[in-house]
Amino acid sequence: MYRTHTCGELDLSYAGRQVQLAGWIQRIRKLGGMTFIDLRDRYGITQLVVKEDSPALVKETTESLGREYVVTVCGTVLERSNKNMNIPTGEIEIALTGIDVLNPSQVPPFTIEEESDGGEELRARYRYLDLRRTPLQKAMMLRHLMAQETRSYLSRCGFLEIETPFLIKSTPEGARDFVVPSRMNQGQFYALPQSPQQFKQLLMIAGYDKYFQIVRCFRDEDLRADRQPEFTQIDCEMSFVERDDVLAQFEGLIRHLFKTVLDIEIPSPLPRITYSMAMEKYGSDKPDMRFEMLIHDLTPLTRDTEFSVFRNADYVGAICVKGAAGYTRKQLDELTEWVKRPQIGASGLVYVRCTAEDDGNLSYKSSVDKFFDRQALEGWAQITGAADGDLLLVLSGPRKKTLEALGSLRLEMGNRLGLRAKDVYAPLWVYDFPLLEWDDETQRFYAKHHPFTAPKPEDLDKFYSDDPRDLEQVNANAYDFVLNGTEVGGGSIRIHDSLMQERMFRVLGMSEEEVNAKFSFIINAFRYGAPPHGGIAFGFDRWCSLFGGSESIRDFIAFPKNNSGRDVMLDAPAEIDAGQKKELGL
Ligand code: AMO
Repeated sequence: MYRTHTCGELDLSYAGRQVQLAGWIQRIRKLGGMTFIDLRDRYGITQLVVKEDSPALVKETTESLGREYVVTVCGTVLERSNKNMNIPTGEIEIALTGIDVLNPSQVPPFTIEEESDGGEELRARYRYLDLRRTPLQKAMMLRHLMAQETRSYLSRCGFLEIETPFLIKSTPEGARDFVVPSRMNQGQFYALPQSPQQFKQLLMIAGYDKYFQIVRCFRDEDLRADRQPEFTQIDCEMSFVERDDVLAQFEGLIRHLFKTVLDIEIPSPLPRITYSMAMEKYGSDKPDMRFEMLIHDLTPLTRDTEFSVFRNADYVGAICVKGAAGYTRKQLDELTEWVKRPQIGASGLVYVRCTAEDDGNLSYKSSVDKFFDRQALEGWAQITGAADGDLLLVLSGPRKKTLEALGSLRLEMGNRLGLRAKDVYAPLWVYDFPLLEWDDETQRFYAKHHPFTAPKPEDLDKFYSDDPRDLEQVNANAYDFVLNGTEVGGGSIRIHDSLMQERMFRVLGMSEEEVNAKFSFIINAFRYGAPPHGGIAFGFDRWCSLFGGSESIRDFIAFPKNNSGRDVMLDAPAEIDAGQKKELGL
């Protein structure tokens, strides 16, 4: 037997008991004639003590111990004189009567404690050691709980968990595919699924009216903190539903996870906002609603100005930053440089400081005082709701680009003012996205969500029009679940009519031959009694990281890839040998 208890469960109620524990040595401290050892396993840390009068063999073995040795120990639970009330086992220690080294350890390349001294690259190379640290263990436990609660909730609601294949044909989800060469069919390739989109729709046609799967997806796209080349979705689909049925069903799941994982009650129903409103007021299709600071349109007020930058601009908009009038010239110059960075792309920044004078009236100090008098600036203040002590930040340019830049500036100011606390949650639905996006470079439309998303019924006339201006205005019956400025989930009501699906592919610029080659099976399937259906997929890693209060989804994936898509522990991707290549016909 290696252990009777774990390192996280003993407390004063065990005082006097003989116990046996197994775990890793986190720390060894010598104090006078006594040696204190912190023994760790995934449940916690227990203090071991070796004294002058401990058995000779125990004292001898203790002398040989090093960090991360894995040992089994036995001894008596004692009340500690020096208590640590921060951990559950902090009131006791184990006076050792025996110790066995199960396996020694080389000196670990970094400290395996709450805060490690190891850099990211080093820890990634020794991921199995990093995973021993408490924050990562907590992240894995949170992920496990999320998965279990998702499964139990959806199963209780009648959803079936059904697996779908990984070796498939390319799915048009918008990113590049990872491909796998076929040995038995030389010169041909499987693609790894970007999502099980077509399979879940086929399951609806097959009559499995409530499907879910916690499933790996693969996308060869540029990586960021919230993107991995392989990631996990809670993928769901339902038949005989309209948008509000889907939203109500999955609000149930969202509510259940908030309650069971974080013990938080969220508003019922969740707030909903259209895509166009989100863009207009937050400059983003995934608005962070933890704080206000809305975007206000100043264009009508800046039409007739001498200031050519505004006069010639398609759009002029502002955010009002509460209490920031004290921003110094230096801070504002720095902010101007910030908005000019290529990622934001603004050409410059106009500001107005609003302060109350002795008579109570507001006075304005702006970077465009030359062009705008008091009365004009008062107009801006009225629209934006600026009051004493507030700072207006104004950007101008092409409408969509400027709104997005204001959206980024809003988030930046939210960060600077501490308005984006990790433990505050603002969930919402964004809906009515455009169905299509025009791409100037390739001169064609792309599906904003994916090509299986249905247009809104009221926009069908425009959907069948051949005028690109009509097509641009078609809204999709699509929705996203957004949490704290992150898109956690996305879904839609689907096309279930073969002719409409064919039309969609044609709108996306595909020839009849191309459609036949790539999608004849699904169009054909629609001809055999496809029910109306719709669904959603949640980014499971993102959801876990938000619930765990982390920026990076990597912390919630046991073995993630780095920013260049490499697994630095395995050193993958890697060359394959000539024999393997030949066998695959490469
Ligand atoms: P979508 O492409 O919006 O929809 O993906 C759903 C959710 O998956 C998460 N996600 C990612 N997470 C980590 N790394 C990535 N590279 C990554 N890409 C996406 C996001 C996103 O909201 N088949 C459709 C769903 C449907 O229509 O039902 C789909 O995959 O949180």
